[in-house]
Amino acid sequence: MLEKFNQTADFIKSKIKIEPEVGIILGSGLGGLADRIENKFVLPYAEIPNFPVSTVEGHSGNLIFGKLGNKNVVAMQGRFHFYEGYGMKEVTFPVRVLHFLGVKNLIVSNAAGGLNPHFRQGDLMIITDHINFFPEHPLRGKNLKELGVRFPDMSKVYYPEFVKIAEEIAKENGISIQKGVYIGSSGPTLETKAEYRMFRIYEADATGMSTVPEVIVAHHQGMKVFGMSVITNVSEPVDPNQETTHEEVQDVAGTVEPQMTKIITELINKM
Ligand code: HPA
Repeated sequence: MLEKFNQTADFIKSKIKIEPEVGIILGSGLGGLADRIENKFVLPYAEIPNFPVSTVEGHSGNLIFGKLGNKNVVAMQGRFHFYEGYGMKEVTFPVRVLHFLGVKNLIVSNAAGGLNPHFRQGDLMIITDHINFFPEHPLRGKNLKELGVRFPDMSKVYYPEFVKIAEEIAKENGISIQKGVYIGSSGPTLETKAEYRMFRIYEADATGMSTVPEVIVAHHQGMKVFGMSVITNVSEPVDPNQETTHEEVQDVAGTVEPQMTKIITELINKM
């Protein structure tokens, strides 16, 4: 595995001039942030050795290098989901590679279903903690000590200082913000009413099909993590007959994306 990470990182390093210090994973419908990156260099996943290729509609697959705010960044436009059939090692492969490229801070975004009854469609939520409800663990198997410890402490995965700064940025810019716990599960089904209720009993505030595996691997490698969810639908809609479609999820994410981009860009400036 180590050899694969190095091979891929070496290939990428041969293509780029500047080492990125911040990694960004763009969730469904949240790709707009990529347009703000200056002096862009785009590397399609298909051209990167050992990289899986994204399959879902609306998730294009590119690594985008450049400057955002005052930092050199690399953004993943399109991520790999467990529900697509990839194993956890594949889902998290890019995050391993980011580490070998020198990335120290990781920002993750996603579209999520709101469980907290105070949440509304279109809310933004800063992730303060997560629950891993995936059926497979990305760190299962032999631990490579070059990557991290066997039994990582998980008490402070989402870097508290980033949460604080992001809250201040939201306040200064008049952006209302929620904070909460994200529970990640396999998908591709959305939850039944009973499953949404169960997740709420677990005290989760939002649920989605990504983020947790990548964050575990980032934390394993010692990265500081900041995460944000766009609440694209809620578990108890005002109209109880309302159903959720992938198109709706993407539309709502697209609507709130500018506010999320504002917070992330300013956070990067202050990192
Ligand atoms: N459940 C799981 N994933 C999601 C949801 C949801 O309600 N909304 C957007 N992604």
